[in-house]
Parts: sequence; C-alpha cells; structure tokens
Amino acid sequence: MAELIIMPKLGFNMSEGKIVKWYKREGETVKKGEPFFSVETDKTNIDIEATADGVIRKLFLEEGDKLPVTLPIAIVGAEGEDIDYLLDEAEKQLGKNVSAPTKAAEQSKEAPGKESSGYDYDVVVLGGGPGGYVAAIKAAQAGKKTAIVEKDHFGGTCLNAGCIPTKALLRSVQSLKEIKDAASYGIEGLDVSGVTLNMSKVQARKSNIISQLVRGVEGLLAGNGVKVYRGKGVIKDNHRIQVGEEFITAEYIIIATGSEVKSLPIPVDGGMKMLTSNEALNLEEIPKSIVVIGGGVIGIEFAYFLACAGSKVTVVEFLDRILPMLDEEITDQVAQMLRELGIEIHTGAKVTEVTKDAVVFEKGGSVYKQETDYVLMAVGRVPNLAGVPCEALGIKTERGAIVTGDTLKTSVDNIYAIGDVNGKAMLAHVASMEAVVAVKDICGEEARMDYDKVPSAIYVSPEIASVGLTESQARSKYGDIKVGRFPLLANGKAKVEGEERGLVKVIVEPKFNEILGIHLYCAHATEMIAEAVSAMKLEGTAEEMAMVIHPHPTVSEALMEAFEAAVDKAVHFL
Ligand code: NAI
Repeated sequence: MAELIIMPKLGFNMSEGKIVKWYKREGETVKKGEPFFSVETDKTNIDIEATADGVIRKLFLEEGDKLPVTLPIAIVGAEGEDIDYLLDEAEKQLGKNVSAPTKAAEQSKEAPGKESSGYDYDVVVLGGGPGGYVAAIKAAQAGKKTAIVEKDHFGGTCLNAGCIPTKALLRSVQSLKEIKDAASYGIEGLDVSGVTLNMSKVQARKSNIISQLVRGVEGLLAGNGVKVYRGKGVIKDNHRIQVGEEFITAEYIIIATGSEVKSLPIPVDGGMKMLTSNEALNLEEIPKSIVVIGGGVIGIEFAYFLACAGSKVTVVEFLDRILPMLDEEITDQVAQMLRELGIEIHTGAKVTEVTKDAVVFEKGGSVYKQETDYVLMAVGRVPNLAGVPCEALGIKTERGAIVTGDTLKTSVDNIYAIGDVNGKAMLAHVASMEAVVAVKDICGEEARMDYDKVPSAIYVSPEIASVGLTESQARSKYGDIKVGRFPLLANGKAKVEGEERGLVKVIVEPKFNEILGIHLYCAHATEMIAEAVSAMKLEGTAEEMAMVIHPHPTVSEALMEAFEAAVDKAVHFL
C-alpha cells in the first residue's frame, strides 16, 4: 500500500532537514534497504534507506530544499495505485498545492496501463464481521476492486451478539455495583435498597450502541468504495459466488463466515428455558436462578453479569477448573472472587441431562441435580461453513474448521479464510489482524500471523487479560523459568480505586530474560495488556521492562514491579 515518506527526525534536537541527494527519482522502483535519499542534519549527512519495496510515485522536494521534520517528502507505492488521498494529505500538511499536476499525470498513466483480472472484482469477501469488513476495507484501500457479501448485520458476532453487547450489559451492572458500594467511598444519603437494573432500559442502551457501531461500519465500507451485496452468499466455484439470483466473480475470495454456538448432545426437556449467548444477551428479566453449562469465557462473563444483577448462579464445568486457558494461579483467584459473589462452581462435572426444572450432572462418581429456572449453554462455538462447500471446492478442513497457514491462504490458492471459520483463535482482534495479513498477501506484500502473541481479555471485575505462556506451559517447555509476581494490594492506584484484589504475574526465560507470558488480573487489565503484547512483539526483555518508567500512580506500575520481581526484587513488595 502506498505510503507518505516523511522528513525523518534523526536526533533529539533536529527540527528540520535538507535533502542533499535523491538516490531514486519519480517513476523508479526502489527495494527495501536500498539507499533512497540523503539528509543533512545540523551535525552530518545521513543516507536513509527505503523501508519497503515500491515505485517512487512523488517527490515533494528538490535537492537542496529544507523541510521541518515529520512533514511529507515523498510517496512510495505500487505502479498504478490510487495515491490521490495521500496527495491530499501531503497538500494539507505542506500547505501548498502539490497534487494538481501529479493527479492528472497519474490518471493518464493509469488508464491504459491498468491490468484487468477479467473478473467482476479483484476481491470478494464473504461475511461482514470484524474479519470480513476489515478485509474489505483494507483491500479497497490497497486499490483492489472489492465487494462484500453479508446476509445479516455488519459487525458479525462481535458487534451484534458478542464482544460489544456483553460489554454493554457488564457496564450497566458495574454501575449498579458502584452505586451499591457508594457508602465505602464516603457518599451518604443514598437509599440503595431498591436500586435495581431495569432490563428494558439496559437493553435499549445496548441496542443503541450496537446500531451506532453497525452504521459506522456501513459508512466505512461505503466511504472506501466497497460494493455491498445483501444476502446469503454461496461459493459456487473457485471464482464465482451466488448471492440470491445474482452471480459475481472474483480473482480472490476471502471467507469470513464466522462461527455459531455449539450445543451438547444430551437430552433436553422442552419445558426448560434454554439459552445460548444469543438469547442471554436479549434477556428482558434477570432469572431468579440459572445454571451455566461451561466455565469458559462466555460462561464466566455471563455468570458474573447475572450474579451481580441478582441471579442465583451455578456454573458446571467439565474440566478440573474454570477458565482452563488461564494461568492456574489467576484461575484460583478469579474462582474465589466469583464464589464471594455467591456463584456456586462445580468443576470436573459432566452434564448428562436437562430436565424441565433441573440440570443433571455427574461428579466424582455421584449424580447431582441442580434445580433452576434457566440454563445457559456455553460450551464453545463451531466454525460456520454455510455457503462454503469445502469438499467440492477442494478446501481442506480439520475438525470442522478451514485449514489455513500463517498467511491465511487455504489449500486453494486464490481463497483465504480468516476469523472464527479457521478455528485458530475465536477472537475479534485475531480476525481483524488476519484480515490485514490476508490482504497484504493478496497484494504481494510480506506479512504473517504470529499466533504466539495473541492477547485475550475477560471482562469481569477486576478484569483478566493475558498473553503468551502460562507458568505450567512455560515450565513444561523451558524447564527452569523465572516468575515475577506483584499483588494489587501493594499498588497505590488500585487502593485508591478500591480495586485491591488481583495479581500481575510475568513468566520469564532465565538465560536471556525473554518474556514468555504476562498474566493480569487487575483493574484496567484489558487496556494494560496492549503494553505487554507490544513488549513481547518488540522482543523487549524482562530487564528492559523493569526499566521502563511507568507513570505514577497507575495500576500499570504493577507490571513494571512484576518484571523487577522476576529479574531482581520488587520495590513495593517483600
Ligand atoms: P470456551 O471454549 O471458552 O469454553 C467452553 C467451556 O465449556 C470449556 O471450559 C469447556 O471445558 C466447557 N465444556 C465443554 N463441554 C462441557 C460439558 N459437557 N459440561 C460442562 N462443561 C463443558 O467457549 P465459550 O465460552 O463458549 O466461548 C466461545 C468462543 O468465543 C471462545 O473461543 C472464546 O474465546 C470466544 N469469546 C471470547 C470472549 C472474550 O475474549 N472476552 C468473550 C466471549 C467469547
């Protein structure tokens, strides 16, 4: 994708630079790492290398011209790629007309030369969730003629029946909790005995948030020139998709059809009020009692929400602990918090039947019957392959998911699969990054997914977030490891916020102090985890992280202290 090249800032005190020499001229190709231009600073002349392969589409300065740092000096992109928006941006920043002659010249160059693939579109995306709509936008931004097919609402599970609506419900219950706790912050005169959630109003707020965001996605698609097809898409062959009565063809197809809820193959009495996360998100009343089958992310977020809203909640989990993907120590602390909220947790428990008024499960050789008004089934999701006849297309699948490599290509060369449908990590942020990688691959750019550094976030209070290996995973892979812990009760900001519960834990490889895993159970964890991911992505060491100045007072200081604890000793904890 074309990019604006700016006058680099090559030292703390450099405020402007002079172009001494352009090693490449407009229209010439440049390779990553080749000398591009030479800049004179107040100290010396420095040769600057190109950071990507491309064609020099525009130079804004002559040799000998001076310009303040960070202002645009050139555009590098692909031959024939639309650069008008970058010319406009440069014009804005430079305050002079840089685009008029160039735009016209570019257009006249483009018209005869632009190759046509012979298909209706360069790229067609099937499914408009956080994988699909991001792929469509990125493809269009890269100059590809792009269409997207969506049978329902844009935003997919994330916007309509997952991440965003659950967080909206949790926000309401957080408010309720804060009002009930008001006295502990010195607030008097509130009668909180009758304070309760009005679910119709909570739902209305949630729906309003969703519709604003969905409209936002529609606006972005339109603004980027993506053609939208409304209806159920079916891939007919490697280049042809049917939408209703219409057939469209594409050079590349990106499958982003998401996932759907999974159910247990057990007898269920029709008299029981059974919910999946889809129905649980639309509850108009808080159940008096509910059994949540499955102590994974969905199960625990709903269990937390419903318990805070006044429901009697029981969680029944098949494995020997809830949230089995988390570090064991964090799971223990979260389970303790949930129990204090009144949630009953059964682990190592296998549900065998749902009767009209109870959930039956086996545990430790005994059979239990938990009476309940409602049941929430939260035992995972499965890839949605409707409209994708994998076998006929020659697309390889494994356990119901499309097999993809780290460029997201399927076993068919021109077909990619991103998001939940490839079953790698059913998370919106993974889907969106897979979209970016797939589009780069289609455009011939180098990009690969790194599934080792995927953050996960769970929205209970305190929040949970993690990236990388747990302590036990790291021990079995590396043997000896360093573990740094910092409890939140020793963090000033957490105390001020009344959020002293929790732990920050870092896992470090002992020889080079490489960061293997970071686990946060604390206020703001879901925001703080981005710092942890950046540190790992940029190959920071534990020693370096312990030397990063963190603002005070913040909960993020606990992360710095955990790294100090791993490589030496924390200051604020013995
Ligand atoms: P999950 O795979 O996270 O958890 C399902 C749980 O059900 C597991 O702990 C499993 O051991 C348990 N289970 C399976 N069979 C059982 C049985 N017969 N009896 C009792 N327990 C049983 O699936 P979940 O929670 O439904 O979430 C689906 C996907 O959506 C996940 O990939 C999750 O990461 C994603 N998601 C992520 C969120 C977030 O990041 N905050 C929020 C919601 C969903």
